[in-house]
Amino acid sequence: MSLKAENIFKPGAFPEYTYVSRNYENTGISYELRLKQALRTAGCLTSIIGPSKMGKTILCEQVIGLDNIVEVSGADFNENTDFWAIIAAKVGLPYMGEITTERASTEGKSEERDSKSEKYILSKDKIIRYYIENNKILVIDDFHYASTEMQMKMAQQLKDAIRRELKVVVVSLPHRADDAIRQNADLSGRLSLINIETWKEEDLKKIAIKGFDKLEIKITDNIAEKLAVECLTSPQLMQYICLSICTLLEDEKKQEVNDEILEKAYRFTTINFNYADVVSVLIKGPNPRGQQRKLYRTVDGKELDLYGIIVESLAKNPPMTELDFESFYNRIFNVIEENDRLKLEKQTVRNHLNHLQELLEGKEEIYRAIEWKDGKVYVLDPLFLFYLRWGRING
Ligand SMILES: Nc1ncnc2c1ncn2[C@@H]1O[C@H](COP(=O)(O)OP(=O)(O)O)[C@@H](O)[C@H]1O
Ligand SMILES: [Mg+2]
Repeated sequence: MSLKAENIFKPGAFPEYTYVSRNYENTGISYELRLKQALRTAGCLTSIIGPSKMGKTILCEQVIGLDNIVEVSGADFNENTDFWAIIAAKVGLPYMGEITTERASTEGKSEERDSKSEKYILSKDKIIRYYIENNKILVIDDFHYASTEMQMKMAQQLKDAIRRELKVVVVSLPHRADDAIRQNADLSGRLSLINIETWKEEDLKKIAIKGFDKLEIKITDNIAEKLAVECLTSPQLMQYICLSICTLLEDEKKQEVNDEILEKAYRFTTINFNYADVVSVLIKGPNPRGQQRKLYRTVDGKELDLYGIIVESLAKNPPMTELDFESFYNRIFNVIEENDRLKLEKQTVRNHLNHLQELLEGKEEIYRAIEWKDGKVYVLDPLFLFYLRWGRING
């Protein structure tokens, strides 16, 4: 049976055929082995932290296996949920209920029935025992989705549960919700910490090479390298782009990935991403309060104010998720047409970045795609930068 592209490249699910194993923080040991070891350490809670879409969930699924993993989300818990009720329900245990035993009387015509009902709550012990006996491992994914208060309550329950050797993995974003776990004095000395790093080009390349190899589609090392650069540390983006390439190749009845198809595939891929509002907020900048903004001509003939120029500079080659101010200023300098460069002072650029930062801080999560902090410009969301580069109509 020949494999279909959609079974090989899976941006939103477990990539059975393109799973790539990476090494843990230059130790020469794989993340998989690190997690395995953590799970064998009795009485410890495993805390996995890493940026969004870097393979945290996939790692758990790979190591624990679908038969043994019990996944719950931080979003499943709100102020009124009983932690154990959810943990029980996930494995189909009746947590709370009423048992009614009925005995219909068989003698005579009377419809009399004897019934006895009892309320019960399955004890925490029983739930934990069930998990241990059935080799179940509890993964609390996206822990940061639970409210701070709930996180504290959960940490309290977990502390007790791991002592009884329930195996638990808590997954969350960095600097977000790790306080309830990593900064919790009650848990100190009882944590196995795993930090997931962003992806390096050489590992991203392997996804493409593995997948196209399975599909018997030719791809050179050089093309795979270009893809890896464009993916900006995101294995998910790699899976998306490769799937787009397959669709385009099938359409054109071709069996080889070449330069020409790359750009087409990049543009095609951005259709999945909805950052138009984010871009427009950045380009508009803060409310100008009726003031006319200074316009700059760009080397490719546009006229933009400094907010527009900032966005334009981010989109330039090579794609970078972190730029110090000097490099960023250089980019801006190169975007602006020669005669207009003189108008621009460094402090003006800094001020504009400050204003943008303020503007974004007051907005929803999706708008926090870039950050200006400690003298550096960070792109927090690789998909957003990819969209900036390939998704804009006049891009
Ligand atoms: N080890 C891996 N090998 C290949 N692709 C991966 C790997 N890890 C993640 N991916 C890709 O990235 C996507 C997002 O991964 P996921 O584990 O959901 O991220 P996170 O849980 O960190 O947000 C996956 O659906 C898959 O397409
Ligand atoms: Mg996840």
